[in-house]
Amino acid sequence: MTPILELESARLVLRQWQDDDLREFAAMCADPQVMRYFPAPLTRLESAALIGRLRGHFAEYGFGLWALERKDSGAFIGMTGLLTVNFNAAFAPAVEIGWRLARRHWGLGFASEAAWTCLRCAFAQLSLEQVVSFTSESNLPSQKVMQAIGMQQDPGSSFEHPRIPPGHPLRPHVLYRINRTQWQATLRG
Ligand SMILES: CC(C)(COP(=O)(O)OP(=O)(O)OC[C@H]1O[C@@H](n2cnc3c(N)ncnc32)[C@H](O)[C@@H]1OP(=O)(O)O)[C@@H](O)C(=O)NCCC(=O)NCCS
Repeated sequence: MTPILELESARLVLRQWQDDDLREFAAMCADPQVMRYFPAPLTRLESAALIGRLRGHFAEYGFGLWALERKDSGAFIGMTGLLTVNFNAAFAPAVEIGWRLARRHWGLGFASEAAWTCLRCAFAQLSLEQVVSFTSESNLPSQKVMQAIGMQQDPGSSFEHPRIPPGHPLRPHVLYRINRTQWQATLRG
């Protein structure tokens, strides 16, 4: 397995994590608005540990959540990528696509642009048959990205996230899917 260290889109480089990403990454993960659909914002220590796990995922699988860098300014703006689903779910084993961007880079199409690049990687380089994505029912901005890249909700697969306590408003999750054939159809427009 040759690890996929870097990808590129029109305006972004999707690259490996660098030690000096921690400052911006920790600021992003400490922002309550960015973390509105997660149980809690992260401390700096938790963000550092998360970067360690993201690097570990690349080492184990050869793909993961890439750090996003703007080509125009070189700024670190967040992450987008592919992760193996690591909890018990009816749809697992599966590879999920996900994203998190710093707030000042929202509304510019960067998440969707990076996500298109990751989907191409999933199907054209990794030869996956299907990619899933999930988020809490209320996370409409994330669902908009899923829809923008051609994913379709699978209403029969909505689920209660096992890592979120019962009764928590973020526990009910929706599941979106896209398979290779559907992805190829999006390329034909
Ligand atoms: C989910 C998240 C990444 C979406 O970011 P985003 O910037 O809204 O998403 P996109 O990159 O698809 O950008 C789309 C927006 O950019 C606008 N846009 C501007 N220029 C654009 C361009 N060149 N191409 C496409 N869209 C563009 C679109 O009109 C759209 O705006 P709208 O939402 O007001 O309609 C962001 O809200 C986030 O980081 N949230 C917190 C983390 C999170 O919840 N992650 C998901 C957990 S499962």
